[in-house]
Formats: sequence, C-alpha cells, structure tokens
Amino acid sequence: MTTTPALHLNHLNAGYGRAHVLFDIDLTIHPGTIAAIMGRNGVGKTTLLNTIAGLITPTQGTITHHNTDITHTPPHTRIHHGLAYVPQGHDTFAPLTVAENLHLAHQANPRSHPHPIDHALHHFPRLQPLLHRKAGHLSGGQAQQLNLARALITRPTTLLLDEPTEGIQPSIVTEIENAITDIAAQGITIVLVEQYLDLALRLADTITVLDAGRITHHGPRTELDHDSAHALMAI
Ligand SMILES: Nc1ncnc2c1ncn2[C@@H]1O[C@H](COP(=O)(O)OP(=O)(O)O)[C@@H](O)[C@H]1O
Ligand SMILES: [Mg+2]
Repeated sequence: MTTTPALHLNHLNAGYGRAHVLFDIDLTIHPGTIAAIMGRNGVGKTTLLNTIAGLITPTQGTITHHNTDITHTPPHTRIHHGLAYVPQGHDTFAPLTVAENLHLAHQANPRSHPHPIDHALHHFPRLQPLLHRKAGHLSGGQAQQLNLARALITRPTTLLLDEPTEGIQPSIVTEIENAITDIAAQGITIVLVEQYLDLALRLADTITVLDAGRITHHGPRTELDHDSAHALMAI
C-alpha cells in the first residue's frame, strides 16, 4: 500500500542570506506518524522547521504537504493547509490573557475549532484556572501548554514542534509528553525537534539525525536501540 506523504521535502537547501545552513534535505514523513528530528545545537533543526513553516524561503528544492506544493505558499496561508508551528522558546502574546491568546488563534484562522476554549482545556486542563491571567505571567511549562493549545485550535493535520520540553520543569514535561501522544493518536502528523533523547525514543516513529545541515541518519525508531541512538547523536 502506498499512501500520500504528509510532508515530502525534496532536495531542500536553505539558509540566511549567504549563510547556507541546510543541504540537500530529502525527507518523507507519513501521515499520523511522529518524526523526531535530532541533532546537536546549531546543526539546522530550527532552520528546517522555519523552512517547512515558510518563514525561510528555500534556495533550492520543494516542500509538498499532502500532495500540495507549498514551497512558495506564504506562512500565514500554510496554516489554511493544516500546517501549524509551535516555535522554539515559549513566547506568547504576553500582555494578553490566556483566554485572549486562545481567541486570537481562533480568529486568525477560518479552519479553527468552533469552541476554542473548550478545545484547549480538553487537552490542557491545567490552563482552566489561568484563563484570566496575563500570558506574560505564566511559567515556561504553562506558556508551552498555551502555545500547543493555540496550535491545536487551528485543527492542524501536521504540527511542527521545536523543542517543546526545553527549559521546562519535569512534572510538566510528562504532561507535554502525554499531550503529544494524545495529539498523535488523533492522527495528526508531528514533526518533533527534541534534544532529550529518551523522550524522542519513547515518542517517535522515525528518527532523523542532522549534522551540519545534512541528514546523517534516517530510519524507524525500532531500528535504534538506546546505545546506537546515543552514538549517532554524538557524531
Ligand atoms: N537568523 C539567523 N541568521 C543567520 N544565521 C542563523 C540564524 N539563525 C540560525 N543561524 C545559524 O544557522 C545554523 C543552524 O541554526 P539552527 O537552525 O538554529 O540550529 P538548531 O536548531 O539545530 O540548534 C547555526 O549555524 C546558526 O548560527
Ligand atoms: Mg533550534
């Protein structure tokens, strides 16, 4: 059986001005899977997600999302194609309340869930008592949950997550891990950039390792035991 890939990157090259960061990225991600993108700091993981999200225009290559070539689609339109992005860091609209942040995600997108607050609280009940708090006053973990909730309100088919557990206290990391598992169980494809190897090995269906802007390993997670994964990451 062949299925249409959720995402297909073909010969993708990208960077910042004259700084060439990504080289010849070929990657196919199947619908409903969790694809972990791994690699040390500075290898190009965020640049890859920025390019898929449309914040960076590739210098070569194409990006196909469910059979639609989105290589030249502006970032704000990609969300209409079902592509949502939770960038690295936990920036929110700090002066707005949690509820206002959620409503903003709802208003910005015609595909959005009709009941944004209910939808957010279903996934992240911890946000309930915080609805009227300014987002700028949330902890890192709470802000990350808000950002995940904002992305889910747009009813994505594909979710790009850049280091969702970075700098977050362990109890909330478990909640975020559970949320990622739930999101994937709904059939949403997830591209997960994750530095925390054990978490990636628990969640991912496929592991892709980047080094200096190139893919140095790609395969099913089941083909990697913990020691080989460590060895790959240490290259
Ligand atoms: N805005 C930028 N302008 C120029 N170079 C950048 C910019 N952002 C990142 N880089 C460079 O691109 C490379 C890859 O960075 P990045 O994609 O952030 O890596 P990672 O997410 O894997 O840590 C690094 O060498 C970094 O210094
Ligand atoms: Mg990064």
